[in-house]
Amino acid sequence: MAMNSVSHKRVRKAVLPVAGLGTRFLPATKAVPKEMLNIVDRPMIQYIVDEALAAGIEHIVFVTGRNKHIIEDYFDIAYELNDTLTRRGKVEALATLQRMQPAAGAMSFTRQQEPLGLGHAVWCARDIIGDEPFALLLPDMITHGERPCMKQMMEVYDRTGGNIIAVQACDPADAHKYGIVGKGKPAAGGFQITEMVEKPAKGTAPSNLYINGRYILQPEIFGLLAKQEKGAGGEIQLTDSMLTLSKAQKFYGYEFSGETFDCGSKEGFIEANVAIALSRADMAEGTRAMLGARTGMADPLQRARA
Ligand code: G1P
Repeated sequence: MAMNSVSHKRVRKAVLPVAGLGTRFLPATKAVPKEMLNIVDRPMIQYIVDEALAAGIEHIVFVTGRNKHIIEDYFDIAYELNDTLTRRGKVEALATLQRMQPAAGAMSFTRQQEPLGLGHAVWCARDIIGDEPFALLLPDMITHGERPCMKQMMEVYDRTGGNIIAVQACDPADAHKYGIVGKGKPAAGGFQITEMVEKPAKGTAPSNLYINGRYILQPEIFGLLAKQEKGAGGEIQLTDSMLTLSKAQKFYGYEFSGETFDCGSKEGFIEANVAIALSRADMAEGTRAMLGARTGMADPLQRARA
């Protein structure tokens, strides 16, 4: 592997791993993939695709699994539905669907046949990505801010090239749930990474900066993932291969300015619904009033965060 020559090619493709079983959302996920669970009025996966497109991504690679075909259907054209909406004069609904319609040929689907870990899921996309840098967005992490997380990262990438992962501060008590980085010197609008640990044992995390599920990676990661070495939880961990890559290539942490909702947990999922409803002009007032009435607080979200 040519570890020291890092290309500065444009990032055109994104990988979205959607093979997970979603056991924390059973029984819903018995029939509906967790990525299709709804936040306000659209499935979680739509927010992730929108974030990728807003960052200039042209092609999305889904790494799916059994019982996930509905995701492929969701991004297809629904002719009958469009026809019915047209006949009923539902102009706005039709326009929304058309706006969200991906361009022909702009999505690929491949399967992770066995749940061997995130590193393995990403590796499954190697042939479709080829020899190019790529974005990776984990669909159960919904980011929310004035400017989308991947867009912010892409601006850093345009200046620096290399590999960039977004991080945010978490409650140190939650560090064992995530990949955690060690923060080095400031560099390129972010910082150098001194360490990366996947799911550190309680009390051993190098910081409280957790990897929030947004990455820009160089294709050399695939050669490392191909070794299929198992890490935390007996799974093939992306974090372990990233640590190796960080010793050979430019590799930066970037503190994303905005919020991340961990929709792999019920609380995170509910908070994403509330926060997104409160940020929408058509829903903010009603949602605020409803929350106030239900909790007896004038502004429950601000109080909760205080
Ligand atoms: C994965 C990554 C971890 C990251 C997390 C964000 O873990 O391995 O580094 O912090 O996503 O959600 P998982 O949630 O798949 O256990």
